[in-house]
Amino acid sequence: MIRILDNPILRNKLNRIRDRRTPAHELRQHVEDLTSMSLPLILDSVPTRSMQIETPMGEYVFEFVIEEDFVFVPILRAGLPMLNGALRVFQKASVGFLAIRRDEETLKSHVYYSRLPHLEGKHVVILDPMLATGGTLELALKIIMEKNPKKVYTFHLVASPEGVERFKYWEVSISTVSLDDGLNTKGYIVPGVGDMGDRLFSDCPPSTPLG
Ligand code: URA
Repeated sequence: MIRILDNPILRNKLNRIRDRRTPAHELRQHVEDLTSMSLPLILDSVPTRSMQIETPMGEYVFEFVIEEDFVFVPILRAGLPMLNGALRVFQKASVGFLAIRRDEETLKSHVYYSRLPHLEGKHVVILDPMLATGGTLELALKIIMEKNPKKVYTFHLVASPEGVERFKYWEVSISTVSLDDGLNTKGYIVPGVGDMGDRLFSDCPPSTPLG
């Protein structure tokens, strides 16, 4: 299932991220904000628990989200600022890490670090700013689904139609702020956001556009 978060306020944040003049420190803040703002829109089956609390007007029973049932899995390194935004929404969630690198020649992805908590029965949210060819996401999903989570969500800032198509029959809820036009020959999303890892963690904009 694919969900496009068709919202002008989210798109406005994304378009600031797309601007190649936005410096790394602002980019990280925009990515964090956009993740916090989007998370409530992408989670449709949130586990809740009724609890009695004392309000200034007396004792009442209200619904609370069981934050401990969530596990956020940022794909290193570009997913890290998304993790900060997600943890702002659910402070008690657990966190797992998957580091996946894409070979720039073959465009094949491989895992070089994996550290995941217990996932059985959990709601797992994979955080990766781009869903490009889908190679990285396929690897991440295979690793995560082996561990019997209750539900798996993925959240992206931009996705390509090719990437989304790859998961048509998968048991996963994919959300993106934008479904962009496609991929260039180097596997970058067009118009996309460029090389997100480099842009997020280095304040030097590339001297020439990547296209
Ligand atoms: N990785 C990136 O950094 N950007 C893309 O568009 C695709 C993969």
